[in-house]
Amino acid sequence: MKSAIVLASAGLALAAPPPTRVVRAADATSCTVTAYASISAAVASCTAITLSNIAVPAGSGIDLSKLKQGTTVTFAGKTTFGYKAADYDMITVGGKDITITQASGAVIDGNGGAWWDGQGSNGGKTKPDHFFVVDDVTGTSTIENLHIQNWPTHCFQISGCDGLTIKNLVLDNSAGDAANSASSGLPAAHNTDGFDISSSTNIILSGTTVKNQDDCVAVTSGTGITVTGMTCSGGHGLSIGSVGGKSDNTVENVSFLSSSVTNSQNGCRIKSNSGTTGTISGITYKDITLSGLTTYGIDIQQDYLNGGATGSPTNGVKISNVTFNNVHGTMSKGKDYYILCGSGSCSGFTYTKVAITGGSGDSCNYGSCP
Ligand SMILES: *[C@@H]1O[C@H](CO)[C@@H](O)[C@H](O)[C@H]1NC(C)=O
Ligand SMILES: *[C@@H]1O[C@H](CO)[C@@H](O)[C@H](O)[C@H]1NC(C)=O
Repeated sequence: MKSAIVLASAGLALAAPPPTRVVRAADATSCTVTAYASISAAVASCTAITLSNIAVPAGSGIDLSKLKQGTTVTFAGKTTFGYKAADYDMITVGGKDITITQASGAVIDGNGGAWWDGQGSNGGKTKPDHFFVVDDVTGTSTIENLHIQNWPTHCFQISGCDGLTIKNLVLDNSAGDAANSASSGLPAAHNTDGFDISSSTNIILSGTTVKNQDDCVAVTSGTGITVTGMTCSGGHGLSIGSVGGKSDNTVENVSFLSSSVTNSQNGCRIKSNSGTTGTISGITYKDITLSGLTTYGIDIQQDYLNGGATGSPTNGVKISNVTFNNVHGTMSKGKDYYILCGSGSCSGFTYTKVAITGGSGDSCNYGSCP
């Protein structure tokens, strides 16, 4: 039997919900939660959960990591977060055959401006390193239609997932492009990756807009990942890596398709870490439009160390079978093409209909620049 039950707790948000309002597992499937403190009871007993205008207390996160199989969670109204200078996950999702979606007009606002100080995860205030952690999601699962804005540093961390489709999201951190009183003239938001994907298989990410200040998508490990229909601006582009020196250092069969990258540092980028080992293979960039880029149009480099380029590539990470097909557009400055491979560690790069213009000083030490 289905019943709709409203879970709400009066008084302080941190107070435990009154026992009389705890839902009986036997008959509750559909639950509307209006108080943060009632989320855990809903997760334990409901399979259709609406989170309505949830105000998350400072230092706390929304824990959806143990959803029952087949659960749908719908964010409704405005989801807001308090501020605490600490590193914690602000939304955590896990489960099998789950759907995370939102009601029309809903907004998830991470209150990022409270943390932004121009330093991201490199220093300054202690910040939640990931806003939306999707861990061990399996079966046939979907995250769709969410409108997320103002996250503190990285937004999505997708790890240990298999069989997940993410579609039609809007991630808007454009408010962090401007300096604020704590950022010494720098853009206030920093290290604000849209999607960091690792150790995951059978992932589709599609139809999503990302406005941020770092990688639009970064795949550091995983196989069978398709990224398509992305609209990326303000950040660092569509990236593999940096690969190497982590617990999982294999990236295989990753495709970036039918996407645009504008007003960003880079377009298509593959990075590996100096002095490490790993494999990057079967990478496709197809139908990618670039404009207003400032650093590299196409970039493959094997010289990363501690997050920066050393200029001295190493060959422990093998990069093979990389295809660029119909990748075109313009730089406003920087290099159209930059390939810096280690000795013998790159093979099988194919360029078809690749035309990037407006940059200067192209440099390719494996094959010739397109
Ligand atoms: C990558 O794709 C190739 C060609 O379709 C396939 O043979 C290989 O098994 C795939 N690798 C993985 C790890 O799925
Ligand atoms: C190269 O990678 C593509 C996927 O990008 C795959 O379809 C193809 O089978 C791979 N070829 C080889 C020789 O590994």
